[in-house]
Amino acid sequence: MAKEYTVTPWEVHGDVDYNEIVKEFGTKEIDDSLLKKIEKYGKLHHFLRRKHFFAHRDLDIILKDYDKGKKFYLYTGRSPSGPIHLGHMIPWMFTKWLQDTFDAPLLFQIPDEEKFLFKNNLTMEESEKWATDNILDIIALGFDHKKTSIFKNTEYAKTMYPVAVEISKRITLSKAKAVFGYTNETNIGSIFYTAMQSVPAFLPSIREGEPTNCLIPYAIDQDPHFRITRDVAPKLGYPKPASINCKFLPSLKGDSKMSSSINETCIYAGDSPEEVSSKIRKYAFSGGRDTLKEHRKKGGNPNIDVAYQWLTYFEEDDKKLEQVYHAYKSGELLSGELKEICIETINKFLSTHQKARAKAESKVEKFMLRD
Ligand code: TRP
Repeated sequence: MAKEYTVTPWEVHGDVDYNEIVKEFGTKEIDDSLLKKIEKYGKLHHFLRRKHFFAHRDLDIILKDYDKGKKFYLYTGRSPSGPIHLGHMIPWMFTKWLQDTFDAPLLFQIPDEEKFLFKNNLTMEESEKWATDNILDIIALGFDHKKTSIFKNTEYAKTMYPVAVEISKRITLSKAKAVFGYTNETNIGSIFYTAMQSVPAFLPSIREGEPTNCLIPYAIDQDPHFRITRDVAPKLGYPKPASINCKFLPSLKGDSKMSSSINETCIYAGDSPEEVSSKIRKYAFSGGRDTLKEHRKKGGNPNIDVAYQWLTYFEEDDKKLEQVYHAYKSGELLSGELKEICIETINKFLSTHQKARAKAESKVEKFMLRD
């Protein structure tokens, strides 16, 4: 049967089959025995309990090393090209939990050249503007400035470029074509870019002066880059980075991934309570029945209901979530009522976020890494 979805670093659409992805990308499912191991270090984050983080590579190895006293670094990133929305924040919220749980230093890459190279309609000036904007949202999520370094590729180039050169020498054009689908029309900056995204995976070893583990949390669309990173690592004498991968937060209309290009299907980090409620009321795809009578009789379908799906991300309390699930499924809770619960939960989250963001500006310099 033909595949009914696409997942690449540039394009995600269709009904993503995450079990299939695990096989296709050659990652490993995060199974219950691995969850038990992670539980040793603290209460499992609800993204793990609910399998939003569903796949990994070598996480078990990183943990074994950690138990022997070998620390690891975290590495993640954001390519600035527009405002931050809820979907972007999922891997970062989890990264913060990893930082707190494992007392791990975090390298946060801002590849300010990436979207300039890959898109036709973004200038470097715009990219810089969004970098400044997006960094405030990142800081607002509560990372510890003593353990977190944020760097823009164009600014940290003096350190990064020599490493990128070593990496790029080990990636052939045919490999890049096979992994990313590049053609003769692809500009050469885009082709080189993957080397820049690999660099921070090796910075832990370079900074520590000895082989040092690195764990990269990311949404699964970034996987092609890190397959290449893992390929190159042993050739340069670095440990292969481990990874932990999440699914995409569905858009309001129920598509696989929230996308900033479609305003109605997206909740931005800066949306007001009114914008949030109007978008959810108007656009959130409902698993409810057509008529009140039918809904009361047959109940709603939480599995396709976006308001419910979002609660699985933003309502941490398992008991509350379970109550909502059963009330909706039994027909006791109506679709409109479920949406109101979702609106309240998202607005609570955003109100906290926006307050923290207002204080982030004064902290920026504590986080920035330059050379
Ligand atoms: N390419 C990512 C994006 O489009 C940004 C990024 C850079 C990243 N390094 C990363 C994402 C490491 C996850 C992990 O936003």
